[in-house]
Amino acid sequence: MGASDSNPQYFCPLRDEFINIIEADLLVVSRTAKSDLPTPGDQVAQANMTIRRAFDDEGEDVKEICRYFWNETEFHCFGMVFDVDECVNVLAVVDGEIAGLLSYKKMNDTFCLVVLNVYPEYQGQGVARRLLQEVMEQALKQGCKKIQIATSNDDLPALCLYQKMGFHLAELIPNIVAEHHGEVINGFAGIPVRDEIRMEREL
Ligand SMILES: CC(C)(COP(=O)(O)OP(=O)(O)OC[C@H]1O[C@@H](n2cnc3c(N)ncnc32)[C@H](O)[C@@H]1OP(=O)(O)O)[C@@H](O)C(=O)NCCC(=O)NCCS
Repeated sequence: MGASDSNPQYFCPLRDEFINIIEADLLVVSRTAKSDLPTPGDQVAQANMTIRRAFDDEGEDVKEICRYFWNETEFHCFGMVFDVDECVNVLAVVDGEIAGLLSYKKMNDTFCLVVLNVYPEYQGQGVARRLLQEVMEQALKQGCKKIQIATSNDDLPALCLYQKMGFHLAELIPNIVAEHHGEVINGFAGIPVRDEIRMEREL
Protein backbone atom coordinates (compact mmCIF):
# COMPACT_ATOMS: atom_id res chain seq x y z
CA MET A 1 0.00 0.00 0.00
CA GLY A 2 1.11 3.56 -0.55
CA ALA A 3 -0.77 6.44 0.93
CA SER A 4 -1.57 9.38 -1.28
CA ASP A 5 0.37 12.02 0.61
CA SER A 6 -1.24 15.03 -1.05
CA ASN A 7 -4.97 14.51 -0.34
CA PRO A 8 -6.23 15.56 3.10
CA GLN A 9 -6.72 12.34 5.04
CA TYR A 10 -7.33 13.72 8.54
CA PHE A 11 -8.99 16.62 10.33
CA CYS A 12 -7.11 18.85 12.79
CA PRO A 13 -9.63 19.99 15.43
CA LEU A 14 -7.18 22.53 16.88
CA ARG A 15 -6.83 24.44 13.60
CA ASP A 16 -10.20 23.43 12.14
CA GLU A 17 -8.59 22.28 8.89
CA PHE A 18 -8.15 19.14 6.81
CA ILE A 19 -4.56 17.90 6.65
CA ASN A 20 -2.53 15.30 4.77
CA ILE A 21 -0.55 12.54 6.47
CA ILE A 22 2.75 14.44 6.41
CA GLU A 23 1.12 17.43 8.14
CA ALA A 24 -0.44 15.13 10.78
CA ASP A 25 1.24 14.53 14.13
CA LEU A 26 0.52 12.83 17.43
CA LEU A 27 -0.75 14.64 20.51
CA VAL A 28 -1.63 12.88 23.75
CA VAL A 29 -4.85 14.22 25.27
CA SER A 30 -7.17 13.09 28.01
CA ARG A 31 -10.30 11.23 26.95
CA THR A 32 -12.46 14.01 28.35
CA ALA A 33 -10.54 16.69 26.46
CA LYS A 34 -10.94 14.63 23.28
CA SER A 35 -14.71 14.55 23.62
CA ASP A 36 -14.74 18.37 23.88
CA LEU A 37 -12.99 18.83 20.53
CA PRO A 38 -15.03 19.81 17.48
CA THR A 39 -15.82 17.27 14.75
CA PRO A 40 -15.01 18.10 11.11
CA GLY A 41 -18.58 18.71 10.01
CA ASP A 42 -22.05 18.20 11.32
CA GLN A 43 -22.24 15.53 14.01
CA VAL A 44 -23.08 12.19 12.37
CA ALA A 45 -26.37 10.94 13.82
CA GLN A 46 -26.01 7.15 14.13
CA ALA A 47 -29.59 6.85 12.91
CA ASN A 48 -28.59 8.51 9.63
CA MET A 49 -25.78 6.03 8.99
CA THR A 50 -26.37 2.94 6.86
CA ILE A 51 -23.85 0.14 6.49
CA ARG A 52 -24.49 -1.88 3.31
CA ARG A 53 -22.87 -3.74 0.44
CA ALA A 54 -21.92 -1.51 -2.51
CA PHE A 55 -24.41 -1.78 -5.36
CA ASP A 56 -23.21 -3.10 -8.75
CA ASP A 57 -23.26 0.41 -10.22
CA GLU A 58 -21.12 1.85 -7.38
CA GLY A 59 -17.84 0.29 -8.56
CA GLU A 60 -16.49 3.69 -9.58
CA ASP A 61 -17.34 5.20 -6.14
CA VAL A 62 -15.46 2.34 -4.48
CA LYS A 63 -12.42 2.95 -6.69
CA GLU A 64 -12.63 6.70 -6.08
CA ILE A 65 -12.19 6.23 -2.32
CA CYS A 66 -9.26 3.89 -2.92
CA ARG A 67 -7.58 6.36 -5.26
CA TYR A 68 -8.26 9.24 -2.87
CA PHE A 69 -6.40 7.53 -0.02
CA TRP A 70 -3.94 5.22 -1.78
CA ASN A 71 -3.59 6.26 -5.43
CA GLU A 72 -4.35 2.66 -6.38
CA THR A 73 -7.13 0.11 -6.57
CA GLU A 74 -4.96 -2.99 -6.21
CA PHE A 75 -3.50 -3.73 -2.81
CA HIS A 76 -0.40 -5.72 -1.96
CA CYS A 77 -0.81 -7.42 1.39
CA PHE A 78 -0.69 -10.92 2.93
CA GLY A 79 1.79 -11.82 0.15
CA MET A 80 -0.92 -11.39 -2.50
CA VAL A 81 -2.41 -8.72 -4.72
CA PHE A 82 -6.09 -7.88 -4.15
CA ASP A 83 -8.06 -6.01 -6.80
CA VAL A 84 -10.81 -4.02 -5.08
CA ASP A 85 -13.16 -5.00 -7.93
CA GLU A 86 -12.85 -8.61 -6.79
CA CYS A 87 -13.48 -7.87 -3.10
CA VAL A 88 -16.72 -7.61 -1.18
CA ASN A 89 -17.14 -3.86 -0.72
CA VAL A 90 -19.08 -2.55 2.28
CA LEU A 91 -20.00 1.14 2.41
CA ALA A 92 -20.91 3.48 5.25
CA VAL A 93 -23.48 5.91 3.88
CA VAL A 94 -24.43 9.03 5.85
CA ASP A 95 -27.37 11.12 4.68
CA GLY A 96 -27.02 9.59 1.21
CA GLU A 97 -23.28 10.37 0.92
CA ILE A 98 -20.55 7.73 0.98
CA ALA A 99 -18.54 8.24 4.18
CA GLY A 100 -16.36 5.13 4.28
CA LEU A 101 -15.40 1.82 2.71
CA LEU A 102 -14.30 -1.55 4.03
CA SER A 103 -13.28 -4.15 1.43
CA TYR A 104 -12.60 -7.77 2.24
CA LYS A 105 -12.03 -11.13 0.67
CA LYS A 106 -12.90 -14.49 2.21
CA MET A 107 -9.97 -16.91 2.05
CA ASN A 108 -10.91 -20.37 3.38
CA ASP A 109 -12.11 -19.78 6.96
CA THR A 110 -10.55 -16.32 7.25
CA PHE A 111 -11.79 -12.87 6.28
CA CYS A 112 -8.90 -10.77 4.91
CA LEU A 113 -9.61 -7.06 5.28
CA VAL A 114 -7.98 -5.30 2.36
CA VAL A 115 -9.11 -1.65 2.55
CA LEU A 116 -10.59 0.51 5.31
CA ASN A 117 -11.05 4.22 4.68
CA VAL A 118 -13.26 6.90 6.17
CA TYR A 119 -13.34 10.30 4.48
CA PRO A 120 -11.93 12.95 6.86
CA GLU A 121 -15.26 14.83 6.99
CA TYR A 122 -16.76 11.82 8.80
CA GLN A 123 -13.87 10.68 11.01
CA GLY A 124 -13.83 10.39 14.78
CA GLN A 125 -17.50 9.46 15.02
CA GLY A 126 -17.44 5.69 14.99
CA VAL A 127 -17.81 5.07 11.23
CA ALA A 128 -14.82 2.69 11.09
CA ARG A 129 -16.06 0.89 14.20
CA ARG A 130 -19.46 0.32 12.59
CA LEU A 131 -17.89 -0.98 9.37
CA LEU A 132 -15.65 -3.38 11.31
CA GLN A 133 -18.54 -4.58 13.48
CA GLU A 134 -20.67 -5.29 10.41
CA VAL A 135 -17.92 -7.26 8.71
CA MET A 136 -17.17 -9.25 11.89
CA GLU A 137 -20.85 -10.22 12.03
CA GLN A 138 -20.73 -11.28 8.38
CA ALA A 139 -17.62 -13.37 9.04
CA LEU A 140 -19.31 -15.13 11.95
CA LYS A 141 -22.45 -15.82 9.89
CA GLN A 142 -20.26 -17.38 7.18
CA GLY A 143 -18.60 -19.67 9.71
CA CYS A 144 -15.23 -17.92 9.70
CA LYS A 145 -12.93 -18.30 12.67
CA LYS A 146 -10.61 -15.38 12.12
CA ILE A 147 -10.31 -11.89 10.65
CA GLN A 148 -6.96 -10.59 9.42
CA ILE A 149 -5.89 -7.09 8.55
CA ALA A 150 -2.64 -5.60 7.30
CA THR A 151 -1.35 -2.09 7.78
CA SER A 152 1.94 -0.25 7.48
CA ASN A 153 4.26 0.58 10.37
CA ASP A 154 3.49 4.33 10.24
CA ASP A 155 -0.30 4.04 10.43
CA LEU A 156 -0.69 4.78 14.13
CA PRO A 157 -4.40 5.75 13.96
CA ALA A 158 -5.17 2.40 12.30
CA LEU A 159 -3.02 0.47 14.80
CA CYS A 160 -4.92 2.19 17.61
CA LEU A 161 -8.30 1.46 16.03
CA TYR A 162 -7.63 -2.23 15.35
CA GLN A 163 -6.24 -2.94 18.82
CA LYS A 164 -9.23 -1.23 20.42
CA MET A 165 -11.42 -3.48 18.26
CA GLY A 166 -9.76 -6.63 19.62
CA PHE A 167 -7.11 -7.28 16.95
CA HIS A 168 -3.61 -8.28 18.06
CA LEU A 169 -0.25 -8.15 16.32
CA ALA A 170 0.37 -11.42 14.51
CA GLU A 171 3.23 -10.93 12.06
CA LEU A 172 5.74 -8.36 10.86
CA ILE A 173 7.07 -8.38 7.30
CA PRO A 174 10.09 -6.05 7.38
CA ASN A 175 10.69 -3.63 4.51
CA ILE A 176 8.07 -5.11 2.17
CA VAL A 177 6.08 -1.86 1.82
CA ALA A 178 9.24 0.11 1.01
CA GLU A 179 10.09 -2.50 -1.63
CA HIS A 180 6.63 -2.11 -3.15
CA HIS A 181 7.08 1.69 -3.28
CA GLY A 182 10.61 1.35 -4.61
CA GLU A 183 11.82 3.73 -1.88
CA VAL A 184 11.23 4.66 1.76
CA ILE A 185 8.59 7.39 1.72
CA ASN A 186 7.33 9.43 4.66
CA GLY A 187 3.95 8.38 5.99
CA PHE A 188 1.77 9.40 8.93
CA ALA A 189 3.50 12.14 10.97
CA GLY A 190 6.57 11.78 8.75
CA ILE A 191 7.30 8.23 9.95
CA PRO A 192 9.31 6.29 7.31
CA VAL A 193 7.04 3.69 5.71
CA ARG A 194 8.81 0.33 5.59
CA ASP A 195 6.99 -2.66 7.05
CA GLU A 196 3.72 -4.56 6.77
CA ILE A 197 2.14 -5.32 10.13
CA ARG A 198 -0.38 -8.17 10.09
CA MET A 199 -3.01 -8.24 12.78
CA GLU A 200 -5.74 -10.72 13.52
CA ARG A 201 -8.80 -11.26 15.66
CA GLU A 202 -10.35 -14.59 16.53
CA LEU A 203 -14.15 -14.66 16.28
C1 LIG B 1 -8.19 4.97 10.53
C2 LIG B 1 -9.60 5.38 10.10
C3 LIG B 1 -10.21 4.31 9.22
C4 LIG B 1 -10.46 5.58 11.37
O1 LIG B 1 -11.78 5.93 10.97
P1 LIG B 1 -12.81 6.65 12.01
O2 LIG B 1 -14.18 6.48 11.47
O3 LIG B 1 -12.36 8.02 12.28
O4 LIG B 1 -12.62 5.76 13.30
P2 LIG B 1 -13.63 5.66 14.55
O5 LIG B 1 -14.26 6.99 14.79
O6 LIG B 1 -14.55 4.51 14.34
O7 LIG B 1 -12.60 5.38 15.72
C5 LIG B 1 -12.56 4.19 16.47
C6 LIG B 1 -11.31 4.19 17.35
O8 LIG B 1 -10.12 4.27 16.55
C7 LIG B 1 -9.17 5.19 17.11
N1 LIG B 1 -8.83 6.20 16.12
C8 LIG B 1 -9.48 6.48 14.98
N2 LIG B 1 -8.90 7.52 14.36
C9 LIG B 1 -7.87 7.91 15.16
C10 LIG B 1 -6.91 8.96 15.08
N3 LIG B 1 -6.88 9.82 14.05
N4 LIG B 1 -6.01 9.07 16.07
C11 LIG B 1 -6.02 8.22 17.11
N5 LIG B 1 -6.92 7.21 17.25
C12 LIG B 1 -7.83 7.07 16.28
C13 LIG B 1 -9.86 5.94 18.21
O9 LIG B 1 -9.15 5.74 19.39
C14 LIG B 1 -11.28 5.40 18.27
O10 LIG B 1 -11.54 4.91 19.56
P3 LIG B 1 -12.59 5.66 20.52
O11 LIG B 1 -13.92 5.46 19.84
O12 LIG B 1 -12.43 4.91 21.79
O13 LIG B 1 -12.17 7.07 20.58
C15 LIG B 1 -9.58 6.74 9.33
O14 LIG B 1 -8.89 7.70 10.10
C16 LIG B 1 -8.93 6.67 7.96
O15 LIG B 1 -9.59 6.36 6.97
N6 LIG B 1 -7.62 6.98 7.90
C17 LIG B 1 -6.89 7.08 6.63
C18 LIG B 1 -6.74 5.76 5.91
C19 LIG B 1 -6.15 4.66 6.75
O16 LIG B 1 -5.11 4.81 7.34
N7 LIG B 1 -6.84 3.51 6.78
C20 LIG B 1 -6.39 2.32 7.48
C21 LIG B 1 -5.57 1.49 6.56
S1 LIG B 1 -5.04 -0.06 7.25
